[in-house]
Amino acid sequence: MLDFFSDDARRNPFPLYDRARRTSPVVHVPPPFDGWLIFDYASVKQALTDHATFSSRVPAPRWFVFFDPPLHTKLRGLISRAFTPRVIANLEPRIRQLSRQLLDQSLRPSRNEFDLAIEYAVPLPMMVIAEMIGIPLPDCPRFKRWSDVILILSYTRSGGPGAERALDDFITVTAEMNAYLADMIAQRRAAPADDLLTRLVEAEVDGQRLTQDEILGFFQLLVVAGQETTANLINNAVLCLLENPDQLKLLRARPDLLASAIEEVLRYRSPIQWMMRTPTRDIQLHGQTIPAGKLVLAMIGSANRDPAQFPDPDRFDITRAPNHHVAFGHGIHFCLGAPLSRLEASIALTDLLHRLPHFERATNQPWPPRQALHVHGPASLPIRFELQKPS
Ligand code: HEM
Repeated sequence: MLDFFSDDARRNPFPLYDRARRTSPVVHVPPPFDGWLIFDYASVKQALTDHATFSSRVPAPRWFVFFDPPLHTKLRGLISRAFTPRVIANLEPRIRQLSRQLLDQSLRPSRNEFDLAIEYAVPLPMMVIAEMIGIPLPDCPRFKRWSDVILILSYTRSGGPGAERALDDFITVTAEMNAYLADMIAQRRAAPADDLLTRLVEAEVDGQRLTQDEILGFFQLLVVAGQETTANLINNAVLCLLENPDQLKLLRARPDLLASAIEEVLRYRSPIQWMMRTPTRDIQLHGQTIPAGKLVLAMIGSANRDPAQFPDPDRFDITRAPNHHVAFGHGIHFCLGAPLSRLEASIALTDLLHRLPHFERATNQPWPPRQALHVHGPASLPIRFELQKPS
């Protein structure tokens, strides 16, 4: 059986994907997992896009990403205006300020090493999404712990020994978040602010205010989606550039390639490696039948390395064009946070490349993968650096 859950495979799942794509792009993993994995670009894109056949109703928390139309459409509509490219562009000065504050703390002349993941790539998106939601910055550590616990919930998919514990912790954290949120909701009712929480408190679907449970669902989804994914994008970008010094050199010489470099990181080391779907009917794919109701994993990380779509897919090429990766999904569930994470990554990389004329990994130990199984990227990434010489 293919083991995607070992640390080695999670650091480098790509040879496994490649083998699967060549031999059988549709694989059934027996119980306790009992799910179907889809590996080729065309089928993954179909599973992400054809929402009538591949439902997003999966065994997961009640977040709108896991709903189908018409409810999905209504709930997404409530907050999509908070994520338009124009709204996000206006956040740029604040994100830059947060980025510089974090780097000033870490890149002190008295140090020559820092942990990029722990000191920068994780806290930056956390502070940005916390401010957007309307969480006071001093509450961020609590916020981070909640996100970590929710993410470990993905271990329940492996059916391993951690599964039961993960579920218990999730239930505890949900209660904590509920209590915290009740307080915040009361505050926003009394004094509306210009933040997402106020928008949710005031929002109506079919003439009805959202229930606290529904607001909690948004809150949990944004806490997780807003931090973990972008943190990995930043970490993975640095990993890719360190692994490909010619591309790092090219990017330094041609900063106009930054946007295209970020797309290539999203393709090459996709922060989310798979999304779940449930077929609403039996599906024939590559000569196999996936029965209705079974869990399907659309393997985004594999689709993005499919040679049928990307010439020389294992080459990290910051000039790649076209680059129609599916790292943000496709269709009606396309990532709402894409403009935000692209902006955060471009600010982060600009600042890092500017502040660090030379940097390298501080250890050649294999990096520890992050905890959530569907997420790809390092939990810790110690970097040795030399600071910009004063000019
Ligand atoms: C590199 C960063 C990110 C990646 C790779 C990513 C990836 C994805 C993917 C693959 C989906 C599609 C889910 C599906 O089809 O079932 C998605 C949906 C979503 N993402 Fe992101 N995401 C990122 C950043 C963010 C950020 C920063 C936010 C919010 C602040 C966010 C919020 C959402 C939401 C709300 C959805 C659900 C959309 C829907 O179901 O209509 N994401 N994301």
